[in-house]
Amino acid sequence: MKQVFFNIGELKTATGTTPVGGKAQGELLTLHNAWILIEDGLVSALGEGRAPEADEMVDCCGKLVTPGLVDCHTHLVFGGWREYELAMKLAGKSYLEILAAGGGILSTVRETRRASEAELYEKTRGLFLEMLVYGTTAVEIKSGYGLDLETEKKQLRVVRRLKEAFGGVAATFLGAHAFPEGMDHDAYVEQLCTEMIPAIAEEGLADFCDAFCDEGVFTAEQSERVLNAGKRFGMIPKLHADEIREIGGTQVAARVGTISCDHLSETGAEGRKALRDGGVIAVMLPATSFYLKKPYGDFRAMIDAGVPVAVATDMNPGSTPNLSLPFAMTAGCLYGRLTPEEILTAATLNGAAAIGMADRLGTLEPGKQADLVVWDAENLDQLIYRYGTNRAAAVYKRGVRMTGKENLWND
Ligand code: NIG
Ligand code: FE
Repeated sequence: MKQVFFNIGELKTATGTTPVGGKAQGELLTLHNAWILIEDGLVSALGEGRAPEADEMVDCCGKLVTPGLVDCHTHLVFGGWREYELAMKLAGKSYLEILAAGGGILSTVRETRRASEAELYEKTRGLFLEMLVYGTTAVEIKSGYGLDLETEKKQLRVVRRLKEAFGGVAATFLGAHAFPEGMDHDAYVEQLCTEMIPAIAEEGLADFCDAFCDEGVFTAEQSERVLNAGKRFGMIPKLHADEIREIGGTQVAARVGTISCDHLSETGAEGRKALRDGGVIAVMLPATSFYLKKPYGDFRAMIDAGVPVAVATDMNPGSTPNLSLPFAMTAGCLYGRLTPEEILTAATLNGAAAIGMADRLGTLEPGKQADLVVWDAENLDQLIYRYGTNRAAAVYKRGVRMTGKENLWND
């Protein structure tokens, strides 16, 4: 089956199959009055001017087309919500104070343990479909609201079902997200490494293993142990680091060889150097900084230091109850000081690379999957500028229209 998307006012895409940092992060392929030829769900050619004929012709009405967005860091499977924390936040309580009072992650743990797998699946599927509406066509999803083997597996089975139903889903085991209430910390780390990771690997439930390395949660040493255990069982390491304070997470990431290191709002020059030397992708999560009213992190310096930067939502019920990657992109431009071109690379190619999918996703080039968004915007600047409303007019995965506005171009 052949399809042609034609009359594309502006087509913007990063290129290649490996993450890019430095100057290259802002160098996109830009075509005007463009077309894309798709064969059996894969891009087979693209160009400017007169478009080829095909079985299906899709008129893009002069609008912006980009690759589908890749959200490489989310916590999408959870019971309940935490809107009641808003009042505590407004009264000045910090994220760690809420956690220490038995709230925060631990209250979501209680609700996630209580929820049935069927309930969790329906809820996560709803969130996943809503993300598609905002232009996200591939997503990483973490566990971490069980903190016991049964619940962590229940979360990861939900992720596996989504992966089977839609494709473009990566599963991450985040048992090291917090310590179970009342449990000795080292005993839990031991349990993670010797019981939980082997059991999860046995069922093939996780592609990646992650840990929350920060003040008040997992130390650098504990995080390193967990990631190395995951590695021995075939899980690719990732890390949450420097969200609250620099405690050596970037050095752990470099030593272990994590594919990405995420948050990094407190990272300084040494941390940037560790990431660059370790070949680690930096994942910025500006929607989290927004909601926690915390620093955004110096992502301009990260790119200038040669570290490839990705951007993700961090969607979760506590620090970021927001699943719009375009919102995070605008915040990343304004407060992380990236250009629209750099942030598009961050939300597509580098995001795909952070979840090991850059060989098939993240750019619009021959051989890549035809995951794309027709935006209700004339150009990339307009997409970033008109933040806070949904500009995705039609969203395609493998050339199949998944969602979109009834009237495509309704300004
Ligand atoms: O990435 N930083 C750690 N964990 C999540 C928040 C989880 C929660 O509050 O429920 C995050 O921000
Ligand atoms: Fe997170």
